[in-house]
Amino acid sequence: MEEILLRQPDDWHAHLRIGNLMENVINLFDVYGRVVCMGNLADPVDTAKKALAYRKQISAMGNFLPIIGVMLTKNSTVEEWEKIIKLLGKSAFMKYMPEGITTNSEFGIPWTELENFSRIFELAQDKKIPVLIHAENNRNFLSSKEIAEIDREKEAVVFIEELALAFPDLIINIEHVSTRTMVGLIKNYKNLSGSISPNHLFHCYKSVFDDHGEIINVHKYFKPVAKNENDREAVIAAALSGNPKFFFGSDSAPHLKIDKEVFKRAGAFNALTNLAYLCEAFVERGAIDKFEPFVSEYGARRYGFHLNTEVIRLKRQNWEVPTVYRGIVPDLAGREMRWRIVE
Ligand code: NCD
Ligand code: ZN
Repeated sequence: MEEILLRQPDDWHAHLRIGNLMENVINLFDVYGRVVCMGNLADPVDTAKKALAYRKQISAMGNFLPIIGVMLTKNSTVEEWEKIIKLLGKSAFMKYMPEGITTNSEFGIPWTELENFSRIFELAQDKKIPVLIHAENNRNFLSSKEIAEIDREKEAVVFIEELALAFPDLIINIEHVSTRTMVGLIKNYKNLSGSISPNHLFHCYKSVFDDHGEIINVHKYFKPVAKNENDREAVIAAALSGNPKFFFGSDSAPHLKIDKEVFKRAGAFNALTNLAYLCEAFVERGAIDKFEPFVSEYGARRYGFHLNTEVIRLKRQNWEVPTVYRGIVPDLAGREMRWRIVE
């Protein structure tokens, strides 16, 4: 196979940032029809006013339809969410990051306090607003002991089940699924689906951490952290399975090289390689028929959008991922890629 024509895909989870960083990466998203742009800025996008302003900035530079991942924070109210829904309509999703779990999540609500926000979930359920969940828990709520990074996703399961049971018609999406446990949970509840990042298809725990859990390669450090083989295989199987509950969301999360190296910021900038890498992964596992549905159909259907009508082209061509791209170390830096997006 030398060439693949693909219905234009969507990226259901990306971090575009603001300012220079945004300017440096945004053109890479023009290949998509829709992009969910997460609002976890240092000053979180958690009001209608901020969401409109953020959407405007993105629209001025990007050639795709931005959907803002509006943050559910301690400041969130039902009244504000009514406003968000009224003013942004289908271009606002609700994003939940528990407090302190990842980059810019300081304003997040702890899992144990989520029940105080149930009226907001009721509203989301009524209005069919997808709720995107960063499903990790870093603290045992009984002993208050810190939970190791590798165990954080499965330690969030109890909270996800509670939410799934309490809001049977809520569109709940588990972001960047990384474990066999979470794949299984999603299959069990009709109101759950999961997005999958190439990060969890490619990387494994051992290439990021040493035996003591210390980071040995900060450029492969993202949240949820890369897992061991058993989990990785389950995520690969879910992506390749043709089960419409699982679809693509890159979690492209650029940080300047210096910020990664000095402050160990979590996040991998994979926007340069996502479609090429996924194409390779599906082709080499004999599942090319599942590639287009995974990147271009299942997510749109799940969230109630029409499918994109444009077509993009990928060509069989080797190229090497640069070691630095506009001050950012890209994911898979230095790796030889086998497919290339062509105009
Ligand atoms: C993301 C970021 O940098 O904004 N980081 C990451 O490791 N994935 C936040 C997130 O999605 O957790
Ligand atoms: Zn993310």
